[in-house]
Amino acid sequence: MTMALASNALNQPAGRFDGRWLTLREPTDHQARDASLTQEARRWLEQCRSDDRPLHLIDLGSGSGSNVAYLANHWPGPQHWRLIDQDAELLEQAERRLQTLRDDDARPLAWQHEQRSLTPFDPTLLDGADLVSASALFDLVSRDWLDGFVQAMVERRLPGLFTLSITGGWRFIDADGNYREDADDRWVRRTLDEHQHRDKGFGAALGGNATDALAERFAAHGYDLMRAASPWVLTPSDADARPLALALLDGWAEAALEQRPDEATRIHAWHARRRTSLEAGDWGVRVEHDDLFVHPRHGG
Ligand SMILES: C[S@@+](CC[C@H](N)C(=O)[O-])C[C@H]1O[C@@H](n2cnc3c(N)ncnc32)[C@H](O)[C@@H]1O
Repeated sequence: MTMALASNALNQPAGRFDGRWLTLREPTDHQARDASLTQEARRWLEQCRSDDRPLHLIDLGSGSGSNVAYLANHWPGPQHWRLIDQDAELLEQAERRLQTLRDDDARPLAWQHEQRSLTPFDPTLLDGADLVSASALFDLVSRDWLDGFVQAMVERRLPGLFTLSITGGWRFIDADGNYREDADDRWVRRTLDEHQHRDKGFGAALGGNATDALAERFAAHGYDLMRAASPWVLTPSDADARPLALALLDGWAEAALEQRPDEATRIHAWHARRRTSLEAGDWGVRVEHDDLFVHPRHGG
């Protein structure tokens, strides 16, 4: 099994990610995101700003800066970003690319990065912000961590845009877009679901329940919510998407092996079968994610 990249493709216990994996997924992430939530967040920022001071924006778990790269030119400026991540190498990559990014009026961004862990959660991190964003982060966090985070958001009446949280749903698709699966696919999906709830550095991870948990907590505090699906759709005919589909499959097999080493023979056979179908361009894969925009109710 070729798993060099995929060994870091999926979150490891310490929450470490390979920059090559983040680079590989970025075009698909950007295509998958729900544009209407970005626009809704823009409207909120415009309504709440009373002057032309810089917008203070935070990106949690920013990695190499993919989320900022998507958002910067969709939002007005001037923009000041704070990028927070525990990984110094990824933050260096983010630093380099932020120099090239512009807001929607072609102005360069101002930014600072903070290399630090998000655990335990420090509520003062959010002080002075106009909006908090994160992409592909919340499926890693625990329910307790999320409770503390939501409480800090609510106390500061902050809006949040949280994109690309996995739901745990995925299916292989054929050239006609039909789902294709057998009992082994269903078993691997259940096994991966278990793996996605392992501790990723925040306590037992929410995995596919992340957006439900966020929505439920913010709704309980009287926030308004907008939620939308943001699936990766890697079709069999799209050769450009194939490296991502293969890395994903390799990562799934590796995670399944970690979860069920006693079923190694079954997992290796499944992986080899599905790799053949993906490499031949017979099958692709669809992976479900959810996006969520939350904001305090106007006048509330
Ligand atoms: C799946 S990556 C997403 C990166 C980026 N937001 C994107 O969309 O490409 C998750 C990010 O969270 C960071 N991370 C994970 N656990 C963390 C923690 N406890 N404290 C700070 N950052 C953490 C990782 O270093 C990684 O950059």
